[in-house]
Amino acid sequence: VILKKVNTLLAKMTLEEKIGQLNQYSGRQVTGPVNEQNKTQKADISSGMVGSMLNVKGAKDTREVQEMALQSRLKIPLLFGLDVIHGYKTVFPIPLGETASWDMQLLEQAAHIAAKEAAACGIHWTFAPMVDIAKDPRWGRIMEGAGEDTYLGVLAAKARVRGFQGARLGGTDAIMACAKHFAAYGAAIAGRDYNAVDMSEVQLWQDYLPPFHAAVEAGVATFMNSFNSLNGVPATGNAYLQRDILKGKWKFNGFVVSDWGSIGEMTHHGFAENDTIAALQAITAGSDMDMESKAYINGLALLVKQKKVDVALIDDAVRRILYKKYELGLFDDPFKFSDPAREQRVLNDPSHAAIARKVAERSIVLLKNENKTLPITTAAKTIALIGPLSKSKLDMAGGWAVQPVDTTIFVNIYDGLKNNASGASILTAKGCAIKGNDRSGFEEALGIARQADIVVMAIGETFTMSGEAKSRSNIGVPGVQQQLLAAIKATGKPVVAVVMAGRPLIMDTVNAQADAIVYAWWLGSEAGNAISNVLFGKYNPSGKLPVTFPRNLGQIPITYKQTSTGRPVLPNGDITYRSAYIDVVNTPQYAFGYGLSYTTFGYSNLQFSKTSFSGNDSVKVSFVITNTGNVAGEEVTQCYIRDKVASIVRPLKELVGYQKLMLQPGESKTISFTLDKNKLAFYNSNLKLITEPGEFDVMIGGASDNTPLKGTINYK
Ligand code: IFM
Repeated sequence: VILKKVNTLLAKMTLEEKIGQLNQYSGRQVTGPVNEQNKTQKADISSGMVGSMLNVKGAKDTREVQEMALQSRLKIPLLFGLDVIHGYKTVFPIPLGETASWDMQLLEQAAHIAAKEAAACGIHWTFAPMVDIAKDPRWGRIMEGAGEDTYLGVLAAKARVRGFQGARLGGTDAIMACAKHFAAYGAAIAGRDYNAVDMSEVQLWQDYLPPFHAAVEAGVATFMNSFNSLNGVPATGNAYLQRDILKGKWKFNGFVVSDWGSIGEMTHHGFAENDTIAALQAITAGSDMDMESKAYINGLALLVKQKKVDVALIDDAVRRILYKKYELGLFDDPFKFSDPAREQRVLNDPSHAAIARKVAERSIVLLKNENKTLPITTAAKTIALIGPLSKSKLDMAGGWAVQPVDTTIFVNIYDGLKNNASGASILTAKGCAIKGNDRSGFEEALGIARQADIVVMAIGETFTMSGEAKSRSNIGVPGVQQQLLAAIKATGKPVVAVVMAGRPLIMDTVNAQADAIVYAWWLGSEAGNAISNVLFGKYNPSGKLPVTFPRNLGQIPITYKQTSTGRPVLPNGDITYRSAYIDVVNTPQYAFGYGLSYTTFGYSNLQFSKTSFSGNDSVKVSFVITNTGNVAGEEVTQCYIRDKVASIVRPLKELVGYQKLMLQPGESKTISFTLDKNKLAFYNSNLKLITEPGEFDVMIGGASDNTPLKGTINYK
């Protein structure tokens, strides 16, 4: 039915009106470089030369701009897009942090609330989820994805798409999702944003494409292509990616938007002589909508006239976009998302904070807890809260929070501690700034530390230090924060470091000197309450790292999923003529999948339903997990495999399943994973997904570097 309506409308459109639908402009807030003031924007909108706006939000503003579009001859409504990455007004943890919960239902719920809030403020479309696999913590956008692992990335992609889009598009609690950035943006050379990507096809298919494919399978409405070149071809002009794989092999029927200016940037890549050629390359390659390059609006009509672009290509792109506008119900009511009463109601829904707190608690990863420093007990009568992030609210929002952030709903760490520390007094001092060398605040901080029973240090990055265009060549804890920590530690008081950042940091002094380390990413509007609940043991931490933490910069790139080398380090640690560094071990500081709890877990009784299987048969792997400590807690049990001999070199370990479960003290449960040929499959050198016969090691445990249960199965 929709297609019929689309075709009827298409038949009425002039070429210029069609090209207008492919044109997207930004409103006042900018999320990319602006080259010149867009003086014709209003006129373009009201003459039907714009199909979509980004960065216009709010029931009132979107209504006003939509009214302009409805002045055009065919009255085609605009799509309003925005980067709703981890919340709208209610801010959830940054996606990397949220993934540390390994709780896909929560990811879905958080995305759904973000969609509900955004949809009440005139937004139809979020530029999320970012499903780029990222293994390099120098890359500032690592904060925005699900981390380094493909298995986890696939699940997170599906959960977030489901969350944003709800059961179906068209309801006022759902917005279109956008899987980005197609493709391989996360593998920018040296972790420098926008840099080139050079990668084998096997790695592309094995590690980087599956989350995108998963998004298609989950019904994602749109894709965004990418700034980077991939093996020499800019992703925006890459027909192999967009036509052959996405729209061909995967049969994606939504539309593809370019990234900000990425069509025009193909001239800077040295891939197009000018913007018109860039437009030709992009439309030919399958980029349907032009975000802020103006290359389509300025160049496509000429290209059609010159017979360089077949109008059928343009029709296809327009059809895809109009289809979504119909699906959202915008032709029936162009203002259905711009309702001030609903905006007020939804933005003030009190249930959202409670969910944000739950997600934030579950995103926290306990990295170290010597001498049971945590949880803080009632014996602590005086608590010193020290560090530049102690009272910050804005930083809790992290990168890519929707601007302006409403900090009135934010709980900082100081307020969070006060909410829990009944009876204990809380002394606080900043100690130092996040950046710079100024140590003049050290004395005051030391003064209050000396009076305290325990010191909590709130340190890390500012929220502006990660995100787009925020690559860092030195990912240490900035400024003199570590020196402050060392000085405080010298007082002899127990020190808990609460570290907040948008990426894994290298934290030499923190690792060595803090008695406990709580990794808190950027947790959003409920950060303070969530952190406090963990510090006081009201919530027993259960997060596990979705990304490897290196010991030093030289280890990057580092991932748990390393392939075997011909000269591995010997089991006795001998590195002579071995694949190793002479100045640091190969192992990371904290491994993928790692995270502590206030309790401990024991793994035992590994059993296989059979050790040999073939065809479509499967093996059930079961084991017993026991809470061996004194408090209730959740564990993420993880199942890894290793293909022992294959036609191409395979990783030493690969995650193929996990389960998160709650156990009371002393309680045991039997858990099982099913392994079939799909779990054992990989892309061979002909890019065929196959399962080769042979032996597979199966490893079970609570972290990629801690798998106490091991066995072998045989696929025949
Ligand atoms: O959605 C983003 C994209 O991820 C990076 N460049 C700007 C776009 C729109 O804000």
